[in-house]
Amino acid sequence: MSVLLEADAVTRRFGGLTAVNEVTFSVEEGAAVGLIGANGAGKTTLFNCLTGFDKPTSGDVRLRGKSLLKMARHKVVKSGVARTFQIVKPFPDLPVLANVMVPLIAGGTKGDLRVQAMGVLDRVGLAHRAASPSSQLSEGDLKRLEMARALATKPQLLLLDEPFAGLSVAEIGVLSDTIRQLRADGTTLIVVEHKIGSLLQLVERVVAMDQGAVIADGEPQAVMRDPAVVTAYLGGEATTHEQH
Ligand SMILES: Nc1ncnc2c1ncn2[C@@H]1O[C@H](COP(=O)(O)OP(=O)(O)OP(=O)(O)O)[C@@H](O)[C@H]1O
Ligand SMILES: [Mg+2]
Repeated sequence: MSVLLEADAVTRRFGGLTAVNEVTFSVEEGAAVGLIGANGAGKTTLFNCLTGFDKPTSGDVRLRGKSLLKMARHKVVKSGVARTFQIVKPFPDLPVLANVMVPLIAGGTKGDLRVQAMGVLDRVGLAHRAASPSSQLSEGDLKRLEMARALATKPQLLLLDEPFAGLSVAEIGVLSDTIRQLRADGTTLIVVEHKIGSLLQLVERVVAMDQGAVIADGEPQAVMRDPAVVTAYLGGEATTHEQH
């Protein structure tokens, strides 16, 4: 297995606050990695740095050995990196199908965009809502649309930021099946999620963060039992997220 993504001493400061602190890890091609940590641990900020939405204050991010830091956002997407957002922001007035056509157009996709957008919607189980304005979608369907918009860029590496937040148990089950299928198709995944039980069904490795730093990295059960992880979760302020 070859290394796809490397975070090398990634640090992001906001004024006096170090949101991400010297984070180093690498992800092998085809892996599925969970990223956990209490609210404010730095997970979304790290995602931003790994995907070109933000620049680290110091450190490097490499995809197949090549630094992403000097690349424009669209080049990062072109080189195979996509992400979803914790707060979903589709174009509310556009139909679901058009929402998926936008990233296809941006990516310079050739051929019949409608057919291709329908194909992507089909993969996430949203083809039946293709004509609906996205403002009419349920939370679960919005998460699926968000996934479809990321998949439209044909990513090799997909970063999901709290894909299960706000979803029912049934919706989590359906989305988990979609994520498993992506993985079976060869997509490398990094998933931030507070719903640990559901996350552990999807990943074979967990990286835990606390106050910007990695405090554990390895086999999920071992990481969940790690005293530093237990302390970070139980010792912090009461989280607003469910932990099941
Ligand atoms: N643009 C910003 N400017 C200033 N501070 C920021 C900015 N973005 C994030 N932070 C701070 O950085 C820290 C890490 O935030 P981040 O959103 O990465 O945490 P998180 O692990 O994703 O949390 P959650 O689980 O609640 O989503 C927090 O203290 C946050 O307030
Ligand atoms: Mg976050």
